[in-house]
Amino acid sequence: MGLSVQVFADSSLESWIATERKVSLDKILKNISPPGTARGTVVASPSKDNPNYYFHWVRDSSLTMDQIVWLYDHAQGSDRSFYLGLIEDYVSLSVQEQSEPSQEGIGEPRYNGDGSVDTIPWSRPQFDGPALRALTLLHFLKSFGGAYPPAEEVIRKDLSFVLSHWRLPCFDLWEELRGLHFYTQSVQLAALEAGVRYFQTVGDNEFSLTLNQSAIDEAIELEKYWVQGSRYLGASRDLQLPDGSHYKASNLDTAVVLGHLHASRSMNEDHLIATTFAIERTFANFYSLNQALVMPAIGRFTDDVYYGGNPWFMTTAALAEVFYRLAYELKQGAALEVTSLNLEFLTLVSASPLKQGVVITSSDPLHAELVNALVERGDEELSVIKKFAGPQGELSEQFDRNSGVLLSAPDLTWSYASFLSATNYRALALSGSK
Ligand code: NOJ
Ligand code: NOJ
Repeated sequence: MGLSVQVFADSSLESWIATERKVSLDKILKNISPPGTARGTVVASPSKDNPNYYFHWVRDSSLTMDQIVWLYDHAQGSDRSFYLGLIEDYVSLSVQEQSEPSQEGIGEPRYNGDGSVDTIPWSRPQFDGPALRALTLLHFLKSFGGAYPPAEEVIRKDLSFVLSHWRLPCFDLWEELRGLHFYTQSVQLAALEAGVRYFQTVGDNEFSLTLNQSAIDEAIELEKYWVQGSRYLGASRDLQLPDGSHYKASNLDTAVVLGHLHASRSMNEDHLIATTFAIERTFANFYSLNQALVMPAIGRFTDDVYYGGNPWFMTTAALAEVFYRLAYELKQGAALEVTSLNLEFLTLVSASPLKQGVVITSSDPLHAELVNALVERGDEELSVIKKFAGPQGELSEQFDRNSGVLLSAPDLTWSYASFLSATNYRALALSGSK
């Protein structure tokens, strides 16, 4: 097991995190079943205009409800019942939405506040949503501990959809490009794998085996995003772009980091570390606001033009979460191998010299040093959010790349959910136990 590491956390950051967690939960609760919507609805933001985010996106709502599941899992008594009520509403709404006739069936990206299918021309289909919803509900069933047939039915339909669609092109999570995407395939694979375990436990071996076959196949597909020589995982393949388009030619996108996080993949993986580091350096030099910061504000990708192309709170929180999760895995005792792909990053993080090929085990003093340094790095990254959050802790979708002012959708539910997620892992990294 890892050494017990004393991490000297910045106390002002510490108290801000506690306050911001309360703000985040409060704002999330306001965006769940707001007045006039069907129970279980999670609006992406209260904003109805410029942009109109008053929809229940399958992706955003699953990621948000995953945080409610986490809270449920860690709560007792009336708090636990309260969170259970929210999850039950979400399950009931999901049952209804899955059965509504629509152009793309379960591949519809979003629903209206009343639970009906959104029919506005939009980037559809999107195939990450069903996988994310299945993952959230599988997390819930694990914590619930008993049978909950409606949730199981939603999961079964979602996973069946994943089985029949994972090879097919769709729009990416940013709703911009049609093709195959690391993010989408990564969360699909995670959902299939979690489904394999769940359906085996409940005795449906046939379904479990079917899921397993696709999981094996999709794992092979996921390897294809690593382009030799590029030193990072590409975001998409087989894009259907207009002839001559150079949009996102670098294929470097924080979506890959999100794809790792939302699939609960190990962070102790040199392809991910190399990709995270490529993103960190790229954005550090990209936004003028980063010149004055220790760690950079992070956006989606450098060709982004949406609202002018800015850092987002959710992608900034994602970088912090990678550092906290890696620290947590090390603290749990994982050894870390220095490879040609993570050497540059680890050299920057560690005060001691490192050599390629060395395996840093938990008995090595360097191991404890790395845990500390990773948490500090995560804290510097969260400090970016602290600096640019609104006066009452408000998090919008984006903040201006030059001035830092809040931009695009206000009170974006996903921004708050991503903050909760990052700080959950911070707490784990500091305590070392689950
Ligand atoms: C709205 C999408 O949600 C956003 O991600 C995208 O960048 C813009 N439309 C432009 O396509
Ligand atoms: C735009 C983002 O690109 C997309 O991922 C998200 O689902 C919507 N906004 C709603 O938050």
